[in-house]
Amino acid sequence: MPLLGLGVYKSLGSEAETSIVSAVKNGYRLIDTASVYKNEENVGNGIRSCGVPRKELFITSKVWNTAQRMGDIAGAFERSLDRMRLDYVDLYLIHWPVPGCYMSTWKELEQIYETRRATSIGVSNFEIHHLQELESISGIVPAVNQIEVHPLCYPKKLIDYCQARGIQVQAYAPLARGAYLDNDVMCVLATKYAKTPAQIGLRWMVQKNISVIPKSVHKDRIAENADIFDFTIEPEDMAILDSLNQNLHSSHRPEDLRDIIL
Ligand SMILES: NC(=O)c1ccc[n+]([C@@H]2O[C@H](COP(=O)([O-])OP(=O)(O)OC[C@H]3O[C@@H](n4cnc5c(N)ncnc54)[C@H](OP(=O)(O)O)[C@@H]3O)[C@@H](O)[C@H]2O)c1
Repeated sequence: MPLLGLGVYKSLGSEAETSIVSAVKNGYRLIDTASVYKNEENVGNGIRSCGVPRKELFITSKVWNTAQRMGDIAGAFERSLDRMRLDYVDLYLIHWPVPGCYMSTWKELEQIYETRRATSIGVSNFEIHHLQELESISGIVPAVNQIEVHPLCYPKKLIDYCQARGIQVQAYAPLARGAYLDNDVMCVLATKYAKTPAQIGLRWMVQKNISVIPKSVHKDRIAENADIFDFTIEPEDMAILDSLNQNLHSSHRPEDLRDIIL
């Protein structure tokens, strides 16, 4: 799985298509969508117009909470493929660990995996206890846990847990939706490495073998977010970045699902 991908949450209509075309030109090969983003048709169009064969791309989609509550995982998966007009996805994720549902959802994902129409399956927003529960009922280790990670949100214990078990950590909201781009420390490091704060944040994660899926609909930012493979952050600066954690969540937190219906 590529370490860099394009997120398309809130990229709507033709914006999603043009951002995919632009991303692929800039070397991205992974696209992260979900049924709840309401842009799978546009993602499919972007895939077909980007100029790179489908088999060279890595496409992720996710089963939304409503389908989990209705027990309609197989149907939701078929509808995602239909909307994208694809034969398979490279990764299909449980979007959230919906209480009372995620164990049976995982069993259904296993069946989809057996058909090879999802060449890998994984989870998102899972905490350690969710992963432990899955381990107790399944022989299949989730390929990926997609969670919020960036310098202001660094769940080290969860990341260590995943990495020790071969679960690839993938960082969503890796730019904290802009929240650290004017952070003083990030700006000092950006000057030191002649990069931008966004590039410092993304590089910090890539150096930890965490996949990043920044979203942008702007060509210049799509290019900027990909330009992170020509420098290395020194260990003492990695440690400084490690210390910026504030548990700042720009999306929901998994424990929110106890109190709200997402
Ligand atoms: N599994 C989950 O529950 C979950 C939750 C949230 C997100 N995700 C996935 O993760 C992806 C990324 O997360 P996200 O979209 O929430 O947040 P993000 O990637 O951290 O930030 C996106 C925001 O930052 C702006 N931006 C992008 N590059 C920039 C740059 N170089 N300089 C300044 N601003 C920049 C974008 O604006 P412009 O587009 O205007 O450039 C957009 O407003 C999503 O698109 C989605 O695929 C998954």
